Amino acid sequence: MVQFRLPMLPHPDEVEWSSIVNGVVTSLSVDSNSILLDVLRDQVGSLGTKRGCDMGTCGCCSVLVDGEPRLSCLTLAIEVEGSSITTVEGLSDGHHLSPIQQTFREFGGSQCGFCTPGFLVVISALLSENQRPTDEEIKSAIEGNLCRCTGFQQIVDSVREASEILVSGISIEDSTLPKSDPHPKYMEDA
Ligand code: FES
Ligand code: FES
Repeated sequence: MVQFRLPMLPHPDEVEWSSIVNGVVTSLSVDSNSILLDVLRDQVGSLGTKRGCDMGTCGCCSVLVDGEPRLSCLTLAIEVEGSSITTVEGLSDGHHLSPIQQTFREFGGSQCGFCTPGFLVVISALLSENQRPTDEEIKSAIEGNLCRCTGFQQIVDSVREASEILVSGISIEDSTLPKSDPHPKYMEDA
């Protein structure tokens, strides 16, 4: 009797991968079929990059590749080898939140927060190209991102306010200045 056997899938090759992630040169061995989302979360440790649908429909996994938004769940890591990759962790300036991070906090752009990294990354790309987007341009920029909490209006409001900060150069508040460590090791740090 003839026996049929399903061939085992070959194990992918390991390849050397090097890119600049949030300004840091990052070199790793990755599977040749690894998606960027897995490399960022599991190997780089960028847990701000969220896995939502894993099929290109929610926008949670958005990152910037050379300044352009990309869905990391649909991008092979080797496709973007050598690029400059920015995740949500790379948007702030040290302890100082970027304008869109400030306004998301102030205007309710984030509630449960799961979708937030994807929105922040995509909106950062919009504002770096166009500091005065119209509502239509804002909606068009975020049309690939889904949020189940906010109803979207607070997100649009947050983008408008971030635009005001960028154009006027005036921050809405000083509360993003570094704060004293709430859990100081030494009394002089308190
Ligand atoms: S996880 Fe990538 S689009 Fe949903
Ligand atoms: S804030 Fe909860 S899904 Fe967007």
